[in-house]
Amino acid sequence: MKRTPAMQPPGVQTRVVATRVLDAVLHRGRSLKAELAQALPTLPDPRDRALVEAICFAVLRQPARFESALSSWMSKPLGYRDGDLKALLFAGLAQLDPLKLPAHAALAATVDAARAIGRTHQAGLVNALLRRAQREGIPAGDAHAHWPAWLRERIANDWPQDAAAILQASVAEPPMWLRVNRRRATAADYLQRLRDAGLAAHPDENAPDALRLETPVAVAALPGFADGDVSVQDASAQLVAEALSPVAGARVLDACVAPGGKAAHLLERDATLQLSAIDIDPQRLARVRENLSRLKLGGSIRLAAVDAADTAAWWDGAPFDAVLLDAPCSATGIVRRQPDVLQHRRASDLEALTATQARLLDALWTTVAPGGVLLYATCSILKSENEGQVEAFLSRTPDAVAEPLDDRFGRVAGAGRQRLPGELGYDGFFYARLRKRSA
Ligand SMILES: C[S@@+](CC[C@H](N)C(=O)[O-])C[C@H]1O[C@@H](n2cnc3c(N)ncnc32)[C@H](O)[C@@H]1O
Repeated sequence: MKRTPAMQPPGVQTRVVATRVLDAVLHRGRSLKAELAQALPTLPDPRDRALVEAICFAVLRQPARFESALSSWMSKPLGYRDGDLKALLFAGLAQLDPLKLPAHAALAATVDAARAIGRTHQAGLVNALLRRAQREGIPAGDAHAHWPAWLRERIANDWPQDAAAILQASVAEPPMWLRVNRRRATAADYLQRLRDAGLAAHPDENAPDALRLETPVAVAALPGFADGDVSVQDASAQLVAEALSPVAGARVLDACVAPGGKAAHLLERDATLQLSAIDIDPQRLARVRENLSRLKLGGSIRLAAVDAADTAAWWDGAPFDAVLLDAPCSATGIVRRQPDVLQHRRASDLEALTATQARLLDALWTTVAPGGVLLYATCSILKSENEGQVEAFLSRTPDAVAEPLDDRFGRVAGAGRQRLPGELGYDGFFYARLRKRSA
């Protein structure tokens, strides 16, 4: 008999949910974010939701390690119809290492989950494999074998000295960075509030509003989160506002705004900005509205769901003093936060992305006032999307000049700066500040 969730011992449903999410991401090309958004609300207890997330991220940061351990331990490889069983086994292994959950409870819940997903006849096998992992440990194997070969080659070519560190940074659990809402508190004051709440955190030498938590927590545990005192945002994303630094009262465009982290930061820093913001994706634009409303910034921005490159459709012809193009990109700088990027990314996507970036750069440049600035940013580490893109833009755009950025933004990369993932605990990011010559 299949047990219903109500009859299951504690923790089984979390393993079942993690298995379904992982199976969908690993074997059906689904996005981790979308699957989690659907699955997590089925779990009422926030601790269960946190555990599902932890298991899924731990598996997707190193699926190749679990795959090679299982294939060395099993005489017959799992078949293509065994996707759910494989996902369950990966979830079981990740609980032992790297998550280091108490082994007895993790094993019992995972074996019960095998029954709950209709794999009763393989519950013994799951038990035996997980016990072996517990006894012998899970070999490190090639933790990066799940990187597509073309992408590993690109990284090796672009960053010969750093390629190993880049791959390694994708495996580690990233720190949780907060952005303190300057309008409501200084970073120093909020740091004290965190300490009072028993949460240890550290300021950052480059990003003035950033605090790095020693241990990630659920946002509900952050003092004043619901009131908009603080947001979650990596330090390198926070540096975008620093790199743009529009002057007081400036007319600013955020051309790819969703979900709105950088737009919100710009408004927190300066209430006098006249900010317009657009994004091609209406659903993602709804997230911007939610975020701004929590931060009580909703009234200060004009929003529209349009293709930024189609200026005829949305631009009234009044030039902007500052334009932020936080461009759609390969997300290769944030693999540690979006590990499923590696499951889904194809070499052909990259060509499409670089073409879109170039189209956006050219179209948005027409909206920049003479003497104004466009900040081009990506969370990519690939030169074709970053310094190569900017170099090509500069060579076809005679009225554009690159302005130097200082070393808060990482190493010099052509006309911009590149932060590699893991450096200073940051995500990988690229920034280029392009000034339009005055007429
Ligand atoms: C890197 S994300 C932006 C993140 C955002 N700036 C933030 O800080 O929250 C890129 C965004 O570009 C949007 N996008 C992609 N193509 C676009 C286009 N042609 N016009 C406008 N937005 C576009 C995507 O929908 C996505 O929301």
